Amino acid sequence: VKRITTHTIQEMKMRGEKISSLTAYDYSLAKLVDAAGVEIILVGDSASNVMAGNETTLPITLDHMIYHATSVVRAVKRALVVVDLPFGSYQGNSAKALESAVRIMKESGAHAVKLEGGVEIRESVTRILSAGVPVMGHLGLTPQSIYKFGTYTVRAREEAEAAKLKEDAAMLDEVGCFAVVLEKIPAKLSQEVTESIKIPTIGIGAGPYTDGQILVLHDLLGINRGFKPRFLRQYADLATVIEDAISNYVVDVKAQSFPNEQESY
Ligand code: KIV
Ligand code: NA
Repeated sequence: VKRITTHTIQEMKMRGEKISSLTAYDYSLAKLVDAAGVEIILVGDSASNVMAGNETTLPITLDHMIYHATSVVRAVKRALVVVDLPFGSYQGNSAKALESAVRIMKESGAHAVKLEGGVEIRESVTRILSAGVPVMGHLGLTPQSIYKFGTYTVRAREEAEAAKLKEDAAMLDEVGCFAVVLEKIPAKLSQEVTESIKIPTIGIGAGPYTDGQILVLHDLLGINRGFKPRFLRQYADLATVIEDAISNYVVDVKAQSFPNEQESY
C-alpha cells in the first residue's frame, strides 16, 4: 500500500478530493480505521475523555500520548498518523514544545503533531517545523483552553473572534503547517477560511465546506451513549451491540451453557 503523506493531503485539496479523518488511541481499532481507508488518523488528546474518563483533555500527559501513539503506529500501514501535543507540553515555551514534539516522533514513530492555538503559539509552531516535523494547527473550539472559554459552545460567532481566527489560519498557512483543524465554528466562517488559505482545513462541527472532516471514532461508532451533539452523525450503535453481547455471555455462564463440549478440551 502507498502511504499517505502530508503532501498527499495537500494534493487532495488541490484536486478537490475530500479528506477523511478519525481518531484512534489503540492498536485494535486503529487497524480497522486504517483498513477502512481513512487518510488521517489522529491520536487525539480526547483520549483523556474517551479512554481515561476525565472531564477535560487537560490531565493527559506526554507519556500517555506517546503510549497511545505507539500502539496506533504499530497498527497503521497507510494512513498519516498525527498526534496531539497535550496541555502543558508546548504553550509558552518553544524549546519545550520542540522537545515534546521530538519525543513523540522518536518514541512513537508518528508522522506529525497537532497543536491548539494561533498567534500565541507561533514560536512553538515554527520551532517544531524548523526541525522537520510536520505540524497540524487547531483553531476554533480548542478544548485545552476550556477554562478560558467556560463552555463547549460554538466559537467565533462574533466578528472580533472570527477576524482573529482568520488571521490565525493565515499565519498557520504562512509558517508552513500542512493542515488545520477547525472545530465548532459557523459553516460560513470555515468556508471563508478554507477558500483563503492554501493548506487543507479539516472540520469538526464546522459545516460542509472544509477540505476534510474529522470525528472522534467512539462517537461515530455510538460507544458513548450520552454524547449526541448536533454535528455528530452516529454510524453505528455499538453501545447496544456490545452490551447485548456481554449480557448474553453472562446469561450463558450462569445457565452453564458456556462452555459446551466443542468449546472444551
Ligand atoms: O483530540 C481530538 O479528538 C481532536 C479532534 C476532535 C480534532 O483534537
Ligand atoms: Na485534541
